[in-house]
This record gives sequence, C-alpha cells and structure tokens, in this order.
Amino acid sequence: MTKVWDGFIRGFHWLLVLGIAVLYVTGEEGYLEAHFITGYLLLALMLARVVWGVIGSDTAKLSALFHSPKSALKAMRSDDAGVGHNPAGSYMVLLFFILIFIQLISGLMSTDDILVEGPLVAYVPSSWSEIASDLHHDNFDILLMAIALHILAIIIYRIKGKNLVKTLLTGKEQGVAAVPRMRSGKLGYIIFMLFSIAILGIWGGQPLQVLLG
Ligand code: HEM
Ligand code: HEM
Repeated sequence: MTKVWDGFIRGFHWLLVLGIAVLYVTGEEGYLEAHFITGYLLLALMLARVVWGVIGSDTAKLSALFHSPKSALKAMRSDDAGVGHNPAGSYMVLLFFILIFIQLISGLMSTDDILVEGPLVAYVPSSWSEIASDLHHDNFDILLMAIALHILAIIIYRIKGKNLVKTLLTGKEQGVAAVPRMRSGKLGYIIFMLFSIAILGIWGGQPLQVLLG
C-alpha cells in the first residue's frame, strides 16, 4: 500500500462537504449569522488548501492539476494507474475551486436587502452587490450540478472496479506506479487554524455575538 493522500487533503475534503451542506441549509433557511461564520471558516479552509497546493505533498500540488485536454480524454478512456488526481479528475478539482471561490467572494458582497449584508457590501457600489447577490444564487445551482457530476464520476469508477472513496478515507492505494513525496498534514491544519483566527478576528465579531447570545 502506498500513501497517496496526506491527512490534510483527506480532512479538507470531508470538512468541505460538511461546510457546503451547512451553508446550503443556513442560506436557504435564512440563519445568516451561522451562514457567515461557516462561510468564514470555509474561506479559511480554501485559502489553506491553496497554500497546501504550493508547499504540500506532491498529490496536493496545484501545479499537478494542469493537463492538456488531450491527456484528460486519454485518461477517461484508459484505466491508468497514475498517482493522485488523473488528468480528467484535475479538471473537476479546478472547476470546484473556481466555483467555490466565486461562491465565497459573491457571498462577501451579498445582501438579503433587509437586515443582513456581507462584510464587503459597504466597500463596493450597490450595483456590484446586486450582481453579487444574483451570482451567489445562480452559481450555487452550478455548484450543485458539479457536485452531482462528481458523485456520478465516482460511482462510475466504482463500477469499473476503482474504489476512490476508500482511498480518500484511508489515504492509501494499492499498485500505484510511482511513490509520491508526502508531507505530514499537521502543518496544513495549523495554516487552516491561523487563517480562521485571522478572518474571524476581522469579520466574525458581530455574527459570533449574535450566535452566542
Ligand atoms: C461556499 C460558500 C457558500 C455557499 C455554498 C453559500 C450558499 C448560499 C445559499 C444556498 C444561499 C441561499 C440563496 C437563495 O436563497 O437565493 C445563500 C444566501 C446568502 N449567503 Fe451564502 N453561501 C456561501 C458563502 C457565503 C459567505 C462567505 C457569505 C458572507 C459572509 C454569504 C452571504 C450570504 C447572504 C447575505 C445570503 C442571503 C442572500 C439573499 O437572501 O438573497 N454566503 N448562500
Ligand atoms: C459538497 C460536495 C463535494 C465537494 C464540493 C467535493 C469536492 C472535491 C474536491 C475539491 C476534490 C479534490 C480534493 C483536493 O485535491 O483537494 C474532491 C475529491 C474527491 N471527492 Fe469530493 N466533493 C464533494 C462530495 C463528495 C462525496 C459525497 C464523495 C463520496 C461519495 C466524494 C468523493 C471524492 C473522492 C473519492 C475524491 C478523490 C478523487 C480522486 O481520486 O481523484 N466527494 N472532491
């Protein structure tokens, strides 16, 4: 068995899933203080993932996500035993990162037009925050479609005999061609914590006060 996903990538993924589920419920139900705090933590998580994409394990590297369309098509047709994300999967990951950052940034500029506004609303023209509020709504639908596609791809791989979920839970995979250089995920969590403290320190005061009564 070869270690292919470090502890931070594994934790990052399941925290991301949990975060988006909480943001969906709190956004739709209008629990906007909880929505903001979860949004700030997810922003910290995504920023930590970007840093980890520069200094982390080989399989976490953002530079490993860029492939030619030709190699992506080839990977979809063959059962290649490459390590980490295959070229087709890399496009999915890049799409997720873009959609999630659009969702986060548009959220910071969104307003419910009644009581609550994101922390950047005060700094941008009102036409921007109108566009951002619409984008926050529409981009979420695109994100949901990408999630459905992602899960469908994982089911197809499972039918073809490749259990990607098990690999993402244990971090280990059998029969990989090359052994990637791995780093302990602890540093990734420390970076996540530092970003969380900084962002909650700047923007978290008001919603935390409301939440904690
Ligand atoms: C990936 C992260 C996020 C997701 C998935 C998400 C999701 C959602 C969803 C599903 C809604 C309900 C939309 C609707 O009913 O039209 C919503 C509303 C809202 N979100 Fe987010 N959100 C995220 C991040 C943020 C952030 C970081 C902020 C600001 C700090 C924010 C601020 C708002 C506001 C102000 C609303 C109310 C908008 C309205 O009532 O029209 N969101 N969000
Ligand atoms: C909110 C829903 C989800 C989002 C936004 C999401 C997003 C992502 C992202 C961004 C990655 C790349 C990880 C990285 O390199 O940092 C990934 C990988 C992965 N996800 Fe998800 N995911 C979601 C739900 C799920 C679910 C429900 C499952 C299980 C059924 C799953 C299984 C996997 C697996 C197995 C991988 C590794 C793929 C590979 O081997 O290349 N994901 N996901």
